[in-house]
Formats: sequence, structure tokens, C-alpha cells
Amino acid sequence: MATDYRLRPPVEGLISDDEIAILAEAAEGKLCLELGSYKGLSTIAMARTALMVVNIDHFVGSGPTAVDSGEDTVAVFRANLAKCGVSRKVVTIVMNLHDADWARRFLRRGYDLAFVDGGHTFEQAASDGKLAWDLTRPGGTVIFHDYNPGFPGVIAAVDQLAAKVGAAKCRLTGSRGDTSMMRLA
Ligand SMILES: C[S@@+](CC[C@H](N)C(=O)[O-])C[C@H]1O[C@@H](n2cnc3c(N)ncnc32)[C@H](O)[C@@H]1O
Repeated sequence: MATDYRLRPPVEGLISDDEIAILAEAAEGKLCLELGSYKGLSTIAMARTALMVVNIDHFVGSGPTAVDSGEDTVAVFRANLAKCGVSRKVVTIVMNLHDADWARRFLRRGYDLAFVDGGHTFEQAASDGKLAWDLTRPGGTVIFHDYNPGFPGVIAAVDQLAAKVGAAKCRLTGSRGDTSMMRLA
């Protein structure tokens, strides 16, 4: 029987059921980039329908504004991909996104979809957002997680990027709680 890609993968993570369905649909047949993966929930949601996902995370948490368990999650991440049968569709880059300039040296522009859910300070969200936008092909899409009042730095960074690059904003999930997603295209 075919997998229903709207179903929640059996792994711990920080995106809602609605967002899993949105990511699965947005990623279908696409070359995807993900910045911020934690234990792989959003990665798996995309990889189940995507052509391929390249993801970047240092797997040691995000500081006081988000995940900061102190746990090294890369082994859990890899085990979760295997459990969900998507290991071969995911290329994982373990690096600190503070070093985004390095990523620009070995990644090329051309992703159809980028999903940004790394650090949630203004500085990190702005840096991650710019990297994601720069690596997405013309006509592609960047989706940000946590565009909501709980993360004012994310809102400011996304709004600034949208204004700077002339991208249209579209809210994909509700404005309350901590699950809002904003799409730039
Ligand atoms: C909110 S979690 C991602 C949640 C994930 N998308 C999910 O579906 O559960 C943020 C992730 O970003 C990563 N991260 C935060 N700051 C980072 C940085 N400077 N470099 C690399 N990864 C970072 C953390 O290690 C963490 O795994």
C-alpha cells in the first residue's frame, strides 16, 4: 500500500501535522534545501515526496530561543531517516550555519524549494534566509518556519529579505501559536 505522505512520520520534531502536509506537497518532485533539521521530521516530510533533499545542521541545538537540549542529534537524525526509508534521498552537511560563506563555496544555486528552520535570532534568520534565497533558483520558493510573534527576529528577518529581493510573501499556516510558516517566492 502506498504511504500517505500527509501522515506524521514517527519521529520527534517541531513541526505540526498541517506543516508536514504543506512541506510534502511543496517538495513533490523538487530539489530541496533545508537549513535546520533537528531529528529529521521536516527533512523526512520533504524527502518522502522530493527528488532529493540537501540539509545543513550542526546538530547541537539553537540556543535559548529554540531547541537547546545540549544533545548531539545527528545519530538520531540518521536513524530516523533510515527508519522512514529516505536515507538515500538526503545528503546531510554537518556544519555551523554561522559559516554560511563556506556553504556558498560548495553549493550552487538551483534548488526549487528551501525550508529555513535554523537559528531563530534576527541575525541567524537573516543570514540563513539570505543563504536560502541565494541558493534557490529563479522562480523557486523559500519557506520559513516560526514566522510568528514568539520569534520577532524571524519576522523581522523575513520581512527585510522579502523587501530587499522583491519577493511576495504568503502565509501558509495560522498566525497564532508557534507553527506559522511564511513562503517567499
Ligand atoms: C527548530 S530546530 C529544527 C526543527 C526541525 N526542522 C524539525 O522539523 O523538527 C533548529 C535546528 O537548527 C539547528 N541550528 C541552529 N543554529 C544552527 C547553526 N548556527 N548552524 C547549524 N545548525 C543550526 C539546530 O541544531 C536545530 O537542529
